[in-house]
Amino acid sequence: MGCQFSVNSKKVRIFDTTLRDGEQAPGIDLTVEQKVKIARKLAELGVDVIEAGFPAASEGEFIATKKILEEVGDQVEVIGLSRANKQDIDKTIDTGISSIHVFIATSDIHLKYKLKMTREQVLDKIYESVRYAKDHGLIVEYSPEDATRTDKDFLLKAVSTAIEAGADRINIPDTVGVMHPFKFHDLIKDVVSVTKDKIVSVHCHNDFGLATANSIAGVMAGARQVHVTVNGIGERAGNASLEEVVMALKKLLGYEVNIKTYKLYETSRLVSELTGVPVPYFKAIVGENAFGHEAGIHVHGVIENPLTYEPISPEEVGNFRRLALGKHSGIHGLKKLLEEQGIYLDDQELREVLNEIKKLAENGQKVNVDVAKEIAIKVSSKKIK
Ligand code: KIV
Ligand code: ZN
Repeated sequence: MGCQFSVNSKKVRIFDTTLRDGEQAPGIDLTVEQKVKIARKLAELGVDVIEAGFPAASEGEFIATKKILEEVGDQVEVIGLSRANKQDIDKTIDTGISSIHVFIATSDIHLKYKLKMTREQVLDKIYESVRYAKDHGLIVEYSPEDATRTDKDFLLKAVSTAIEAGADRINIPDTVGVMHPFKFHDLIKDVVSVTKDKIVSVHCHNDFGLATANSIAGVMAGARQVHVTVNGIGERAGNASLEEVVMALKKLLGYEVNIKTYKLYETSRLVSELTGVPVPYFKAIVGENAFGHEAGIHVHGVIENPLTYEPISPEEVGNFRRLALGKHSGIHGLKKLLEEQGIYLDDQELREVLNEIKKLAENGQKVNVDVAKEIAIKVSSKKIK
């Protein structure tokens, strides 16, 4: 849980907020048992931090945070969210937790319409709340909510105030997802320049579909922790998705993450099942089509060498390669699929089966392996092993 770090380190901490920011999304209401089940899976997956909930928000959140701490607190850092006031902090402490995520907004729009506070009052609150949590022996991560719409000088002042008060980590939230990678990179560089040896973290929302890209840009600028949620669930368009961020950091940029990537797919499915939120078919890494191939040229390539059309192997993330049949299919893919079913045809028979499949597909019919098998059996001289 160390708080010292070096921007030259290649190690990036994965802070999972599926059970806090993810669960805040409308329509997602997990029971305590469901939250505990997901927390166990996240610990197995290897995340560095689990944000278990917002203990002061409800009795259920309080109990869930306590239970999660009991269940997985010996394997992973468990943290609770808290507004920057003593009551919330005390409630969080009552869960038995030793890490706290304190936030207060810093943008003028939030100060004027939500907090009804001046900038000076916000700075005082930051100092008092962080100091109070530190005096109670907690590891403190501070977030200036709506950081990316905050006047830059004031944001840096807020960050410095939190550090003076003893904050161990500074998280920069792009609360309404208005950053683009170049802009966020510049901002994080400036934050890193005032945080010295403290870990800088990023928390990106996906309103413009840029949450993953912005998180990566943040790391490239010196952040060494990323807030993510499984399947990218969260407020509005969601948060940066754990699976995308992890694989991009690891495979595209060579950063080190603790995650057992072969557990990504099963984690994704557990969260989808318990939240009732389906995983989009075309979702990177964990979608049903993430390793799907139909076009003859692609299937042929993948059969010869998967690297032709797969930048990641499905096994590496626990997903599956799915070779589909349709009007774009070719002879190689069909041969492979049928042989997997124990059906061996000669070239002419394969061509006949393929023509039949294309006809059906062009008429809008779904052609799965069973349909192909039936056609093959009809067409062929039935060389079933
Ligand atoms: O998006 C956000 O600003 C948050 C904070 C509480 C960190 O979730
Ligand atoms: Zn958020």
